[in-house]
Amino acid sequence: MTNQTFLYYILPGYLITLALVIGIMRYQRMRIKGLLDKLRAARGVKDNKYRRDKEVFKSMEAEIIGWSEDRRLEVEQMQKLENYRKEYLGNVSHELKTPIFNIQGYLHTLLDGGIDDPSINRNYLQRAANSVERMIHIVEDLQAISMLEAGELELEFDRFDVLALTRDIIDSLEMRGKEKKIDLILKHTAEEKVFVYADRQRIRQVITNLITNSIRYGKEGGETKIRYNDTGVKVIAEVADTGIGIPDKFLPRIFERFYRVDKGRSREQGGTGLGLAIVKHIVEAHRQTIGVMSTEGVGSVFTFTLQKS
Ligand SMILES: Nc1ncnc2c1ncn2[C@@H]1O[C@H](COP(=O)(O)OP(=O)(O)OP(=O)(O)O)[C@@H](O)[C@H]1O
Ligand SMILES: [Mg+2]
Repeated sequence: MTNQTFLYYILPGYLITLALVIGIMRYQRMRIKGLLDKLRAARGVKDNKYRRDKEVFKSMEAEIIGWSEDRRLEVEQMQKLENYRKEYLGNVSHELKTPIFNIQGYLHTLLDGGIDDPSINRNYLQRAANSVERMIHIVEDLQAISMLEAGELELEFDRFDVLALTRDIIDSLEMRGKEKKIDLILKHTAEEKVFVYADRQRIRQVITNLITNSIRYGKEGGETKIRYNDTGVKVIAEVADTGIGIPDKFLPRIFERFYRVDKGRSREQGGTGLGLAIVKHIVEAHRQTIGVMSTEGVGSVFTFTLQKS
């Protein structure tokens, strides 16, 4: 390479390339600066120096990663809700199908001549009416669950004697207990009172559900004992039965809606698997807790807390 070639061709080439590279770098820097200025303006940062650029980029990166993680969790949550919705609809239609098909069967039999047969007409009408009752019960429970899950339940707090309420509930369930030869025993004297601060109607629902379960899943000749323990701040309610019990592996799931340990047995007793889900929602709406201990073949003890008054 001669000096002339270097001077006239190669050097200018280098210089032009260098100028171009510097130009591009400046342009990029300008754009980044513009972006950072915008970001600073948006974030309310006034100084225009670049000393903190690295930190800004780091925090931007962390923000972007955090944002994408939030979106991922949101999508997961939406998928869960979607599955939950599908499962819910499936369960609802399944539960309603049984009484609807039963009613259809009874009505068709009656229309096909059964209406004139005195040995079955009343009986079939009664069965159809029972199935309608069952549907109403399911729909009411579903309404209650929807309201509770949407947080629309407004509690009407009041001070009342939970023993008087329990005596009342026991009176109304005594016949059902007798049918299964199960004694309902309140472990308190007739004079005792235990005052709590809660929604009386809702607590009635809780106690009724627990005692109904103790009869439904009880053993003939058994008993259900109800007692209230005053701990000073709270009152612990306890419903203990001598029934079939719940195997350990099912215990964590029994408060889920539609969950039944033995679907056949529960349905034959008129159960939908909504009772305990409603009970748990009501107790938690009171900001109290509910729990269960059970031994298969021996019995179950349900306990929940109440605010003492
Ligand atoms: N005291 C109990 N002893 C044994 N098993 C119980 C008891 N209480 C509840 N279970 C089990 O938990 C399941 C869920 O109870 P839950 O009260 O929610 O539903 P259900 O009684 O089947 O129907 P319903 O909606 O009419 O109450 C029951 O199906 C039963 O398997
Ligand atoms: Mg129940």
